[in-house]
Order: sequence, then structure tokens, then C-alpha cells
Amino acid sequence: MEKSKINRRGFLTAGALATTAMAIAPMEFVKGNGKITEEDRFTANDKSSIAKRKLGKLEVSSIGLGCMSMTSNSYNPPRDKNAMVKVIRGAVDLGITFLDTAEVYGPYTSEEYVGEALKPIRNKVILASKLGFKLENGKRTGRDSRPESIRKALEGMLSRLQTDRIDLLYLHRVDPQVPIEDVAGTVKDLISEGKVLHFGLSEASHENIRKAHRVQSVTALQNEYSLLERVHENGTLDLCEELGIGFVPWCPVARGFLADKFNEYTRFAPESRFNDVKSFSPEGISSNMVLIDLVREWSDLKGVTPSQFSLAWLMAQKPWIVPIPGTTKLHHLKENIGAVNIRFSSAELKDFRSALEKIKVFGVRPLESASKDL
Ligand SMILES: NC(=O)c1ccc[n+]([C@@H]2O[C@H](COP(=O)([O-])OP(=O)(O)OC[C@H]3O[C@@H](n4cnc5c(N)ncnc54)[C@H](OP(=O)(O)O)[C@@H]3O)[C@@H](O)[C@H]2O)c1
Repeated sequence: MEKSKINRRGFLTAGALATTAMAIAPMEFVKGNGKITEEDRFTANDKSSIAKRKLGKLEVSSIGLGCMSMTSNSYNPPRDKNAMVKVIRGAVDLGITFLDTAEVYGPYTSEEYVGEALKPIRNKVILASKLGFKLENGKRTGRDSRPESIRKALEGMLSRLQTDRIDLLYLHRVDPQVPIEDVAGTVKDLISEGKVLHFGLSEASHENIRKAHRVQSVTALQNEYSLLERVHENGTLDLCEELGIGFVPWCPVARGFLADKFNEYTRFAPESRFNDVKSFSPEGISSNMVLIDLVREWSDLKGVTPSQFSLAWLMAQKPWIVPIPGTTKLHHLKENIGAVNIRFSSAELKDFRSALEKIKVFGVRPLESASKDL
């Protein structure tokens, strides 16, 4: 894309927001009480404040930062620790107060990077991490959420994260050998000990969400949700609404696809994790170009970038949705933060949805999987 086009579209900034409610007003770029300038739009600045949203009773910035792609075994090549510490601190300077990591990312290295970055600024952020995988010799070998394993994993996490508490502790995946009530009960005890402040689940079945919530209220569900993967529109979002649980979409820009990072000529190295994802097969990318074409068309219409459009659309679905796009680059982070300033009218949401639903997306999950453990 040529530079002049980028400028014209304008990379929105993380300007102060008037509201965190569902986006229904016509789109406007607002900073304080005035329109922002072309220059302001290009990058976010460190004086900006990002609106807050609530996941259950937990208040977080309306967009977070996913820290998975900063380390090995992710979809990006591993990155230098010092560079990632700068990105994480940069995010906090820009107003992001919600950071997402997990024991399994690396494994362990993502938590180490986050811990190092947060040392001087721990109290400024809401720190979320996840456990529940069995790790042996640096490899994921299964699931393990027995109470004693949760306690042991948590001690390691606290040490790597250089903190005395995790604000939001998720069970990463349900362990079929352990009743979810035992997990919820263990987290309840950890909450009473002050080591954990809130409980979350990731890709748990509807039945397990209900069972867990009866023992210890679930603050947030972290599930895959993007313009490309909308399986959780089949009952999961309704369940969250019913139970007052916040929703944190993972892969909100579809691993970069919705940021217009790939095209039909893209091929991955044999060792790349992208080879395990159906929508990133040569056939998947080619078939799904029609989706990015639609996103480009609407982004142009709104004067924003595809990544910003995709994130803003997610946030416009419910006021308790908080995406956590992953990035290793401050300029992408600034661009993504601009999504918080984008508004849609209800007519726009309806028109876009109707165009979206005409597209048959390749490589997505079957509808019935929405209610099951992943
Ligand atoms: N609970 C779970 O099971 C689960 C599973 C997967 C992920 N997660 C969490 O969700 C987070 C987000 O998921 P994800 O990182 O896999 O996917 P994602 O956020 O959809 O996409 C991240 C990829 O998109 C690229 N990207 C982001 N913004 C961009 C922009 N403005 N322009 C161009 N490229 C852009 C990044 O590359 P650059 O680095 O080049 O910007 C990165 O490769 C993770 O970090 C992790 O915390 C949770």
C-alpha cells in the first residue's frame, strides 16, 4: 500500500474516549472534545487514555495486548527479550492496562518477558495468565489441572512474573480427567489466599462454564473470535451475557490475516505453526481473500485500516468484549489501539453483517463445537 494512501486513511490514535458502551454512534475520530488532526491520527501518543471496559467486575483497558507471539512455539519467530520488554512497556505508556500471557507460551518465556517488563510498573496493569497444560522438557505433552498441579504451576508463574498475585487466572483448556468444580474450588482457595484475584476459562464447554461458575464466579472467558472465526456466536456470547461473564477474543485479527498481512501467494516454512491451521493452507488463504476484500472495502469507507476495522467490529458486538491482539511491533500496537475510537451506526453494523454472512469462510470450526470443550 502506498504511503499517501496510509496517510489518507489515517491511523487512528488512542485518543480519550467518551464512552465504553456498544458502538452505535456514527463513526468519528474524537480526541478530548475536538476532532483529531491528520498528524495525530498517524500514531498514538503517551498522553492518551484508552477507555475502560468491564469483564465481570474487573475493569480493564478496552483493548489488551497478547504476549504469545513474542516467543517461540507461536506464529511469529522468537523475538529478543529486551525488544519485547520495550513493546510491553510501550503498551502500558499508551494506556493498555490489560496484558495476556500463559505458562505454555514459550513455554515460560512469555511470562518471563512480561515479568521483566512489569517490574517497575506492576501496579499499573491487570495481569492475566493461563495454566492447565502438562509441560515436560519444554514441550506440551497433555493437560493437567489437578489441584496440586495448579498450585505448583501458579508458584512458577508468580516467580516468572515477579509478582505476588495474578489478577486474572484462566484455566487454559479443560482437563477431561479433573472435574471442573475441583479446578474452580482450587482457584476459589487461591483467591481467598490473595494469590489470584479473578477466575477465567478458555474454550470450555457451556456445561463446564455453568458448573465452574456455580463454585467460583467466572470473570472472563477467553475464546477465539474474529471476523474469520465466529463459531462462538452460536450460544457462547449469549451464555456470557446471561451469567455476566466478560469475553476476551483470542486471535482477534486472525493471526494477522485481518491485518492484511498475507495473500494468496503466501507460503510458510515447513516448521511453521501456520501449517497446522486450515485457514492458512494455500487453499484456505485463497478462498478467504474474499473476506479480506470485504474488510478492505469497509476499512476504506471508514477511513481506517483493516486491523483497526476488525478489532472495532469485535468491540461493537458487546460492551463487555475486550480483544487482545498480539504484536511484536510498537507501530502495529499504536495502529491497533486506534480501533477504540471507531464507531459504527446500527445500520452500518447491519449492512456489514449481511455482507459478511454471504461469505463462506474456509477452515473454520463446526458450529456444534461452540458448546464443547476444545
Ligand atoms: N486462550 C487461547 O487458547 C489462546 C490461543 C491463542 C492466542 N491467545 C492469546 O491471544 C493473543 C492474540 O492472539 P494471536 O497473537 O495468536 O493472534 P492475533 O492477535 O490475531 O494476530 C497476531 C499476529 O498479527 C500480527 N498483527 C497484529 N496487529 C497487526 C497490524 N496492525 N498490522 C499487521 N500485523 C499485525 C502480528 O504480527 P506483528 O508481531 O508483526 O505485529 C501477529 O503475527 C495471544 O497473544 C495470546 O495472548 C490465546
